[in-house]
Amino acid sequence: MSNQKTIVTQEQIAHQYEYMQFISKMTAEKAQAYGHPLRAFTQTFGCQQNEADTQQIAGMLEEMGYEPADRAEDADVIVINTCAVREHAESRALGNVGALSHLKKARPDVTICLCGCMVQQEHIPEKIKKSYPQVDLVFGTHALWRFPELLYRSLTGDQRIFDTTGDASGYIAEGLPVLRDGGTKAWLSIMYGCNNFCTYCIVPYVRGRERSRASADIVRELEQLVSEGYKDITLLGQNVNSYGKDLEEQIDFSDLLEKLNAVSGDFLIRFMTSHPKDASHKLFDTMARCDKVAKQLHLPFQSGSDTILRRMNRGYTADHYRGLIAYAREKMPDITLSSDIIVGFPGETEEDFEQTRKLVEEVGFDMLFTFLYSKRSGTPAAKMEDDTPHAVKQARFERLLKTQDACVQARQDAYAGKRLRVLVDGHSKGTAYPLTARTEGGLLVCCAGDNLEIGTFAEVEIEKTSLRCLFGRSI
Ligand code: 5AD
Ligand code: SF4
Repeated sequence: MSNQKTIVTQEQIAHQYEYMQFISKMTAEKAQAYGHPLRAFTQTFGCQQNEADTQQIAGMLEEMGYEPADRAEDADVIVINTCAVREHAESRALGNVGALSHLKKARPDVTICLCGCMVQQEHIPEKIKKSYPQVDLVFGTHALWRFPELLYRSLTGDQRIFDTTGDASGYIAEGLPVLRDGGTKAWLSIMYGCNNFCTYCIVPYVRGRERSRASADIVRELEQLVSEGYKDITLLGQNVNSYGKDLEEQIDFSDLLEKLNAVSGDFLIRFMTSHPKDASHKLFDTMARCDKVAKQLHLPFQSGSDTILRRMNRGYTADHYRGLIAYAREKMPDITLSSDIIVGFPGETEEDFEQTRKLVEEVGFDMLFTFLYSKRSGTPAAKMEDDTPHAVKQARFERLLKTQDACVQARQDAYAGKRLRVLVDGHSKGTAYPLTARTEGGLLVCCAGDNLEIGTFAEVEIEKTSLRCLFGRSI
């Protein structure tokens, strides 16, 4: 299954830069005629990978002469990057596109683009063709690197453009521009796609097969980020524990962490997402040893029932998961743990659900992301019998939230009076604790006190706690 990916050649990338230059000339001429610069508005639904993709789109738009717009109403180009993981994200994206029809009527010149995971599904392009005539350009995840060419064709032709095909084995494209927001935090994609085919999940169908970037490219990008002043860098991949399996280079994710830890500078490395099937003791040993690797682990278990885990095709048992957590805590007693959970998977019984709830109680997570199962057409789970009434699933969901809130609050309370190293990263909404920061474990801290400066590390003492935030004063 591996090693089928297409590496986009430097020549092909250079070709895209040519399109960016063509468009840049066009935008400069128009800007002169209008008396103001052309603007682009981007909006992202979905995960961090999607946010990273949008930053690449924004980088290309900047290269093409567009300034960022805060509102769709002010923009000449609008790009909506969509998500397909749950139905809710899909309806929200489509709702927003629907609302743009007035704008398109008032200003037919505006170019509306729809991209990302949602449009990569088989039935979506037809739906957009029929019901959303305001959309000019639709491109899937596999066509992201060809955005300049597609936009050029859209701007210079009178046809709507749909490019949602592309080889499911996927592409690796290096050297495209990225526009980050310039704060302390940066995303760094280390791999794309997923090979796991969990039965509920659409991701492998819309993002293609697992493919890793060469470690030298990742190291180079990290060095660049550190030199630009980024201090909190999150490595991204659907399943980072599979990093390197498709490379000729003999390297796994732990080896990569070791290499990145050796880059000089004062910064933290986080990563997501890990899969319990592939998380190894070697990984936890490496995390414990590497001082720049945050002691934070997002390890989704999805369900505490072995029956459900099997039907989800997750490839581990609840006990295996318990073992991993125990080992991680043995090596890193202060580690911050988070997880994703799905409630209401087809056929989930009360007993299955109770096993999930008990696992939450038992582990004591610092953060949890709990989702109601959402049926995704084309996945194996969509064909499984699902006779649990929605109201029952909803009630379970709410019970689980109660359990998790109690557990999270207990974890938060345990920080009262403790001294923690944090990275100050922004302004809070409150006045008593006017700045925000993150602990090494990724917990949010609202801070007060002297000598606190955004973009620097500080020591704070925790004065009080709430479910979502710790409150600290600088020492
Ligand atoms: N329904 C509900 N949640 C889902 N996730 C993925 N697919 C679905 C689905 N069909 C959740 C999983 C995953 C997270 C990113 O989204 O918990 O870890
Ligand atoms: Fe989806 Fe499973 Fe891949 Fe995560 S590991 S993206 S849940 S198929």
